[in-house]
Amino acid sequence: MLELKDQFGRVFPYLRLSITEACNFRCQYCLPNGFQKPCDMNYLTQSEITNLISAFAQLGTKKIRLTGGEPTIRNDLIKIIGAIRDIKTIETIALTTNGYKLEQQAQSLIDAGLDAINVSIDSLSAYKFKAITGHDKLQSILNGLFEVAKTKRIKIKTNSVLLKGFNDDELPSILRMVKNNNITMRFIELMRTGDNKEYFEKHHLSTDFMSEQIEEIGFKRISRNSVSGPAREYAHEDYEGRIGIIAPYSKDFCASCNRLRISARGELKLCLFGDGGLDLRPFLQSENQIDELKLLILKTLKFKLPTHNLAGGYTGSTKHLAQIGG
Ligand code: 5AD
Ligand code: SF4
Repeated sequence: MLELKDQFGRVFPYLRLSITEACNFRCQYCLPNGFQKPCDMNYLTQSEITNLISAFAQLGTKKIRLTGGEPTIRNDLIKIIGAIRDIKTIETIALTTNGYKLEQQAQSLIDAGLDAINVSIDSLSAYKFKAITGHDKLQSILNGLFEVAKTKRIKIKTNSVLLKGFNDDELPSILRMVKNNNITMRFIELMRTGDNKEYFEKHHLSTDFMSEQIEEIGFKRISRNSVSGPAREYAHEDYEGRIGIIAPYSKDFCASCNRLRISARGELKLCLFGDGGLDLRPFLQSENQIDELKLLILKTLKFKLPTHNLAGGYTGSTKHLAQIGG
């Protein structure tokens, strides 16, 4: 059977699909001046997305994450989720969002059949949240999150980019949240992208102290499954939720890479910090091209490198993560 396997024996059951580059937040590390509209916003259509995911599903993809930019900006998001739901071998549909619409949209996302949601919450202080995103939305986002949490079926994670001198003292409030809520709250090390050199130099901080502190409290690292990828998760018998750590600068981070990425314009990206991408769009125009598309994807996968070179300061062609969804 055709299988998404690279030269290093890694398999890729997980596809991250960006459906828009646009975002309405101005996270300081990503789009400090807001989203600058490009000359065209010609993003993949619903039928192109269906053909694309059908091809990946036939190659063994089991999990799709919709990202952006901010995916909820698209008016057809719910329809896109429904169309993916119809591809029966896709087991998990996940969404990464900044949550700005979550309070209003929670029920329609649940009804559409979403399985998992990751919400970016860089601070649990309303004041800091506004300072980092440009929006006074923390409470509304938390309301949305708790609405989704009522549906026990949906897995909830939060992402907090760890920023030196800004939110590196928030472990106590995170612990209070995970005590009685079945949520995985994750710290992500700030990554260097093409645009954020100065900010990175000022605010990057290793997550090592965080891992040490949670282990001291008694959190234990839990083992991975085939779709969990490079994030590490920690659980504690007295806490309902979990803590996650994403440390892209740590050794061996890429050894467990299990994901491929597609940009909102239909380019296959083999690595978040790689160069360019292969334009799949000409092959997404009809169901009859799916076999050709599958062979092209398999051929391209041979070029996936063993690891990124972030430590060497190499960030590839990604200017900021709104381009490709983190
Ligand atoms: N470094 C680390 N995380 C980032 N994100 C966006 N840009 C960066 C960066 N430079 C995060 C967002 C979101 C996730 C998809 O990626 O905060 O939670
Ligand atoms: Fe938007 Fe996400 Fe970038 Fe923040 S990190 S500006 S929410 S794309």
